[in-house]
Amino acid sequence: MTARKVQRIGILTGGGDCPGLNAVIRVVTKAAINKLGIDVIGVEDGFFGLIRNRMHPLSLDDVSNIITRGGTILGTSNSADPSRFAVGKDAGGKTIYEDVTKRIVEHVHDRHIDCLICIGGDGTMTGAANLIRHGIPCIGVPKTIDNDLMHTDITFGFSTAVQTASDCLDKIHSTASSHHRVMIVELMGRNAGWITLAAGLATGADVVLIPEIPYSLDSVCETCVTRSRRGKRFTLVAVAEGARRVDGERVIGRLVPDSPDPVRLGGIANVLCNEISDRTGLETRATILGHVQRGGTPVAADRALATLFGHKAIQLVATREFNNVVVMQRGETTFVPIESVAGQQRQVPLDDPLVAAARAVGTCMGD
Ligand code: F6P
Repeated sequence: MTARKVQRIGILTGGGDCPGLNAVIRVVTKAAINKLGIDVIGVEDGFFGLIRNRMHPLSLDDVSNIITRGGTILGTSNSADPSRFAVGKDAGGKTIYEDVTKRIVEHVHDRHIDCLICIGGDGTMTGAANLIRHGIPCIGVPKTIDNDLMHTDITFGFSTAVQTASDCLDKIHSTASSHHRVMIVELMGRNAGWITLAAGLATGADVVLIPEIPYSLDSVCETCVTRSRRGKRFTLVAVAEGARRVDGERVIGRLVPDSPDPVRLGGIANVLCNEISDRTGLETRATILGHVQRGGTPVAADRALATLFGHKAIQLVATREFNNVVVMQRGETTFVPIESVAGQQRQVPLDDPLVAAARAVGTCMGD
């Protein structure tokens, strides 16, 4: 018996947004409608839309002229875990959680969706893996500025974030130099140092601190003081939000209990700023770049990569190779099971060529 042709797909963007999401939505919708005669349903706000049954058909017009736009036309959310969804409060004010996956299954069946394209990071892939276990075919498309998804050499959004971070580091470099200050810039990336390493390397940051290499305050202060003595009277420090001292913890900005990933990092730049200032007497300032790294129009490389990934995803729909996530491995677009990337993070290997290159130009890596 031959399998029934896919007639309708759903598409959602989950987790933190990143530049390039619209390029995926565009190619998936265009190729589905024009090449395969498949209807496309846009799911609003990631898993929220599936839970609350908020979805709408996507037309060719809806996806026209969106490749240059940052964000996602579908909306997204990183605080909706269907297997542990906040449904209200009990009499004591404590949040009540429920597994609402069955509700999603009903909505997907009611809408006659044959397969879901889930564009997201490890949290979204964990959600997709859960749906697969409940009989909903899914295809994953990896996105994240953090570049930390397992089994893919790169995710779209990363290059734009690195460009934005580098532009900001360049600007801070010039004011650091005028005022002879130690300037500390905190960059995103969760538990991975890819953004900080790439942007630090690209801008000639003097100190680059990433979560994978716990830093010693002695080493960082020595770099600042030595530079100052040698007449380079400023130091540019790029620090990843997830970096930590050899003898310390990560700095947590806030906890979001309803989220699949409840820990929001942030604030290490301020901690480091005070420590360096107290220890060295040098004038020190901190900047936390924050969400500026997630916004804006995608650079050309991210638009192209996102289009490549989205095209591969729709090809997998056509060949019914469900429950896989598209990845880039050694320059080739291929796929691996969604289950194999769910809930995992790809950190910077200590022998990564970027680390070696940073050391080669004399960057202090904090160790
Ligand atoms: O995963 C992308 C990311 O921007 C991380 O780099 C950062 O730690 C996190 O999301 C911030 O999340 P939120 O937008 O919920 O503050």
